[in-house]
Amino acid sequence: MSRSVNMKLCLGSLLTVAGAVCASVPSLEAPACSVGKGTIQYNKSVPDQADFPKTQVDVCYDDTSIHLVFTAFEETNFYFNGSQTTNDAIWAYEVMEAFIHHGTNDPKTYLEFEVSPNNVTFQAWIYNKSKVRATSAPLDTSFLTQPLADGLTAETTLDKEAQTWVSATKIPLGLFNVDDGQAKGTSWRMNFFRTVVSPDTFPDQLLGAWNPTNESNFHMTPFFGNVKFI
Ligand SMILES: *[C@@H]1O[C@H](CO)[C@@H](O)[C@H](O)[C@H]1NC(C)=O
Ligand SMILES: *[C@@H]1O[C@H](CO)[C@@H](O)[C@H](O)[C@H]1NC(C)=O
Ligand SMILES: *[C@@H]1O[C@H](CO)[C@@H](O)[C@H](O)[C@H]1NC(C)=O
Ligand SMILES: *[C@@H]1O[C@H](CO)[C@@H](O)[C@H](O)[C@H]1NC(C)=O
Repeated sequence: MSRSVNMKLCLGSLLTVAGAVCASVPSLEAPACSVGKGTIQYNKSVPDQADFPKTQVDVCYDDTSIHLVFTAFEETNFYFNGSQTTNDAIWAYEVMEAFIHHGTNDPKTYLEFEVSPNNVTFQAWIYNKSKVRATSAPLDTSFLTQPLADGLTAETTLDKEAQTWVSATKIPLGLFNVDDGQAKGTSWRMNFFRTVVSPDTFPDQLLGAWNPTNESNFHMTPFFGNVKFI
């Protein structure tokens, strides 16, 4: 079964230069926060896999939430649009992002969560029938409009001298129909992203990802990594 899935991905990637999809996607094991955390780091750009500022995500879970701590190293711009607020197009400036799906398949529906250097968040369900953002298929978006009431929170710390930006976030397990206390043993697909842009380079962004997609488009779910809550 898994062989035929891999075969399909490999055949698809024969058409690509990088052939990145042929390799298996990256994996992470993340424990309960009371025990520790799983950590990934990335430094490759999307889609050409050139150098990209080091970015880290620490992952763990508690009874009610997924904890994601995003750390941007080598950050010099801290660029956001101060007139934007919850669920605005903060992704046009600098953000760190997670795309999250509870399950093991390449999803058509997933949560897109983003945080900006001024602690503004974007949270929406994405329905992309094509799984790769084919131009013929609509990418529908359903916003979560009460993030604080839902328990979607961020705490953001900027250190301009150290060139770091840290956003410690929580995302409720219940959004994914995982009941309180039931996260241990669950399997997930996730990818993590960061955009880099300054007032001088806007709107041309540098894009980076845990598992870089093969186009300048994050919405390609065959590239999501495997995450297991242990
Ligand atoms: C990127 O990978 C996807 C999924 O395997 C594939 O459908 C698409 O054709 C690839 N795009 C390019 C530019 O290689
Ligand atoms: C990028 O990350 C890899 C793997 O974590 C590491 O081996 C490499 O030294 C890093 N490259 C740079 C330029 O930091
Ligand atoms: C910031 O966002 C506002 C509202 O969307 C927009 O009118 C303005 O042009 C943006 N400013 C910059 C510098 O991009
Ligand atoms: C960021 O937003 C959260 C709510 O998501 C809030 O609790 C926090 O105080 C805000 N400020 C900072 C600096 O993190």
